[in-house]
Amino acid sequence: MKPTDHDAVAEDVVRCAYDTVADAYADAFASTEPELPVDLAMIEHFASLLAEPREVLDAGCGAGRMMPLLAGLGCRVQGIDLSRGMIRRARRDHTQFPSRVGSLSDLPLPDAAVDGVFSWYSTIHTPDAELPAVLTELRRVVKPGGHVLLAFQSGSGVTEVSGAYRQRGLDVALYRHDRTADDAVAALLAAGMEEVARLERAPAAHERTAQAVVIARRPV
Ligand SMILES: C[S@@+](CC[C@H](N)C(=O)[O-])C[C@H]1O[C@@H](n2cnc3c(N)ncnc32)[C@H](O)[C@@H]1O
Repeated sequence: MKPTDHDAVAEDVVRCAYDTVADAYADAFASTEPELPVDLAMIEHFASLLAEPREVLDAGCGAGRMMPLLAGLGCRVQGIDLSRGMIRRARRDHTQFPSRVGSLSDLPLPDAAVDGVFSWYSTIHTPDAELPAVLTELRRVVKPGGHVLLAFQSGSGVTEVSGAYRQRGLDVALYRHDRTADDAVAALLAAGMEEVARLERAPAAHERTAQAVVIARRPV
């Protein structure tokens, strides 16, 4: 199987799953309730690093819950997500932000289009073999000197995360690919970026896994 075929198959599975759970996800996570203050501090730091006009792509925006936060930090936000169902909810619930269907592996943006790319738990379904191509694509659309933020569950291995949705009668197959901050930083460096900041923290009471946030810069 060619790498491009493999990408397409993996993305089809994720797209189909999020189309199915879009309303359940959007209703359960309307804003930033799951985030801890330290997570939000990393987002504030990311926004503070951006050059004007602070154009930000919310890459894998889902139903758009993080876009008002970014706008409140002075960013001009647009969203992209693989799932039509998630984009339908983003457009319905966050009408002030442009959002459209698109893939992290083939972003519908020209080179050096934005000051920052914000990927909040949107590379978590990307297999390790496909991560280099995704990070190269994120680097392509950010301006030289611009920043990329990744947030993800920290760990290793592949975990099936369909259970909570199946309990609600939603028949999906969804897998999460955990990696450590070290793994993510190594992949970002290999994609031609440099590390700016990282957070790796223990799970909070409502979480089962450790969490990580990494901020990287595209060199000038
Ligand atoms: C866990 S949700 C997070 C959504 C949102 N960032 C949030 O925090 O609520 C993961 C999202 O990433 C999107 N996603 C996963 N892989 C993607 C890809 N290759 N291209 C675009 N979006 C992707 C999914 O469709 C889903 O909406």
